[in-house]
Formats: sequence, structure tokens, C-alpha cells
Amino acid sequence: MNSSMFDGYADHYDKWFMANDKVFLSELKLLHHCLEPLKKDKILSVGCGSGLFESVLNKEYGINNIYGLEPSQDMAKIAVKRGIDVKPGNAETGELPSEEYDIIYFNGCSTYIPDLKKAYENCYSALKKGGHFILLDVPKESAYGILYSFAKHVGNYDKDIFDKIAPELPYPIELVTSGIFYTTLDKAKIIKEYLNMTNIKFYQTLTGSPVYTNDAVEEPISGYDKGGYVAIVAQK
Ligand SMILES: C[S@@+](CC[C@H](N)C(=O)[O-])C[C@H]1O[C@@H](n2cnc3c(N)ncnc32)[C@H](O)[C@@H]1O
Repeated sequence: MNSSMFDGYADHYDKWFMANDKVFLSELKLLHHCLEPLKKDKILSVGCGSGLFESVLNKEYGINNIYGLEPSQDMAKIAVKRGIDVKPGNAETGELPSEEYDIIYFNGCSTYIPDLKKAYENCYSALKKGGHFILLDVPKESAYGILYSFAKHVGNYDKDIFDKIAPELPYPIELVTSGIFYTTLDKAKIIKEYLNMTNIKFYQTLTGSPVYTNDAVEEPISGYDKGGYVAIVAQK
């Protein structure tokens, strides 16, 4: 699969979040928690997908200055319909203005990038001095990461194996098999040692087993040791 791997899956993707509404709200709260204290005159969402998070951040929290960068035309089309200003392109080579954004975030997007150093470096140049990266996704070592790595290995959610282990409506298998699951510390190492970013902080949500995470909306907490969705915040 190439960088437009989400073409053809945009509907599946949004439907999955609509069926897993509490998971969506827990992830939204995590992203908002990270954004909240930071200067945010101009924000870029890398791999903004269908713009679901951006449209709800606007409606619920009045954050209406988020731009998008997205390689999948199908996903971008929906984001544009939701009112997001989306540039086509990927994180590694997308042409971005120099030192333009206060915040650049990758929500669920690092999982689909084979060369994270190249992607983060390209986007780092578009970040203002003093600006922040927020990297949020499923860590390889989390319960979700283990479940997805196992499903990727098997190639499906075989009923006999995944009964009572996978949630009722699991994340589409095609998007699991095309994912590359990184640990939180893999990503932190790149931004710390390769990009020399500072003030690194970690926040997490979806701290239960995947079968229970859609039972209730969770408030984000500090750390990275138990979340199925973890955010790294770092400053340029
Ligand atoms: C899991 S979805 C997340 C979408 C959205 N950020 C959200 O949270 O709903 C991953 C997104 O990353 C995009 N993507 C894949 N490879 C990418 C790359 N190399 N650079 C930027 N985005 C990429 C996909 O097209 C997809 O829209």
C-alpha cells in the first residue's frame, strides 16, 4: 500500500469511530488536553483524514484555525466538506511554509509512515520556534498495539482467536495490516535526539482492555505506561 492507502476506506473509518463513540471522545479529550495550554494561532493536522476531530474541535471547543495535510483524496474530500482547508500531500515530502505553525499534530498518522525521521524533520521546519509537536497514536507496547500486531500477523480477526479479545466492531483489518506500530519511546527518541526538541511531556487515554474502552469516556492522564492512545508533546 502507498501513502493514499486510506483511499476506499474513508467511509469504513468514519463509521468505525461513530460505532465506537466513547473511544472517539476519549481520544478527542486527549488531543484537546494537549492543545489547550499551548499558543495556537495557527495549527496543522498532518494526516487530518476525514477532518472528524478538527470539525468537533471547532464545534465543541471553538478551535477553528486548524489546517490539514492529507495524502488520501477520499479522506481529504470529506474533510473539505467538513470545512477544513486541506493541502494534498504527505508528511515526508509535503511542501510546507517555513516556521508557519504554532502547533503541528499527527493524530493516528505516524502509524502509516515508514520513515518517521524524514516525516518529522519535514514538518519540524514548518513549526515556529517555540512551537509544539503533538504526536498521538496507538503505541506498539499497549494492549491495543499488541492486539493489532497480533491481528496483523494473523491477517484477520479470526473468530476463534479473537473472540472476547477484540472489541465487537474492531478497527478495519486493512488499516491494521497496513499499519506500522511504533513504541512511544521510539518516537520520543527521534524528536529528542534527532530534532533536539525539549519540554517533552506524555499523556494517555484508553487505559482499559480494548474490549472495555468503549464502555465509558475517559479523562486523559499523564504518562505513557498504560494508554492505548498516547500523546507526546514537545517544543521546538
Ligand atoms: C488513522 S488515520 C487518522 C486520520 C485523522 N487524523 C483522525 O485522527 O481521524 C491516518 C491518516 O494518515 C494518513 N496518512 C497515511 N500516510 C501518511 C503520510 N505519509 N503522511 C501524512 N499522512 C498520512 C492517512 O491517509 C489517514 O488519513
